[in-house]
Amino acid sequence: MTGVIGVERYEDGNAVKIAWDNGRTARFHAIWLRDNALDDQTRSPANGQRLITLQDVPQDTRIADVRLAGGGIDVSFHPEGRTMHFPAGWLLDNAYDRLPATGSFRISPDKDVWDGSLDAAEVTDDFGEVSRQPQRLRKWLAHVRRFGFARLCGGPVENGALLDVVKLFGFVRETNYGKWFEVRTEINPSNLAYTGLGLQAHTDNPYRDPTPTLQILYCLENSAEGGDSLVIDGFCAAQRLYQEDPGGCMLLANYCARFEYRGTGDVHLFSRQPMLELSLNGELTAVRFNNRSTAPITDVPYDDMPAYYAAYRRLGEIIDDPAMAVKFKAEPGDCFIVDNTRVLHGRTGYASTGGSRWLQGCYADMDGLLSTLSVLEQQTIDDAA
Ligand code: FE2
Repeated sequence: MTGVIGVERYEDGNAVKIAWDNGRTARFHAIWLRDNALDDQTRSPANGQRLITLQDVPQDTRIADVRLAGGGIDVSFHPEGRTMHFPAGWLLDNAYDRLPATGSFRISPDKDVWDGSLDAAEVTDDFGEVSRQPQRLRKWLAHVRRFGFARLCGGPVENGALLDVVKLFGFVRETNYGKWFEVRTEINPSNLAYTGLGLQAHTDNPYRDPTPTLQILYCLENSAEGGDSLVIDGFCAAQRLYQEDPGGCMLLANYCARFEYRGTGDVHLFSRQPMLELSLNGELTAVRFNNRSTAPITDVPYDDMPAYYAAYRRLGEIIDDPAMAVKFKAEPGDCFIVDNTRVLHGRTGYASTGGSRWLQGCYADMDGLLSTLSVLEQQTIDDAA
């Protein structure tokens, strides 16, 4: 258990400086601490929601006194004259006093980028075990958070079984394709995904806003020659592009692309979103890459268009580099899940004669998955305590 071992008033009470027993130090502003106080008049003990607005906190809030207490700190605020406790672990989890971001492109430390050397077995588990054992599910969901990709083997070979995978952590995102969609050869394909052609790796449905954040592809038949699945870490591809050509990379981040899908009948989906999305402080938050549904790009000024296209081409070359892809043959009852804001998927071509390949796919969202994972992680901590 982490504890605070040193605390001092800082900048005339506008802040405090804290040292933990694990060697970390951080500063916290008085206004920040007061706004985030954990007492039952500031936060609801029932649901944790904040009960005050910032206007309820005096503008001239300062720290009158601070001292070590119960492993954390007790802070007395001026002018309210109230003393509130902040636990050591909570302060550590919420510390914001870190070195400023270097450069204008970075990847969250919560995510491990990978290339074709990733061993798919590392992120693969058994459907039955994950369904029965919460700790196995926790580990499997953590793979999705860290790598944006995970597999399950040995599931039922049944129509719609992919919904049982989604039920492990959340809810299906239903679209115009239905609760799920079929991926197999059709004589009159309405979408290239349903033919026997190879498919360049892509993220799905960038023409939706918001884009579905998870995709599950579940194999029911795979006796055709070829048709291997492949996945590529789009964050790794974007990082490579940034290292080679930071200016080009930032063009893909700073200008919106356009994406469009016109289905048969009454479907016309379109969106304007960048191929590489960065947060305001430079963290890569999403990759959108789909050659089939990229519409004419009209947000790039004339003078920047040649460099934009050069960067777009180079990103595609990196994505097509065989060294980037993890390839595997899905057997009936196997499935894989990708973070559709990060990991691209595709397949090698396959022969439509002498065998068949039948996958079912569906969408879901990352918020539900992360919620389930967080609850499982909390249970693990509670069980260990
Ligand atoms: Fe796809």
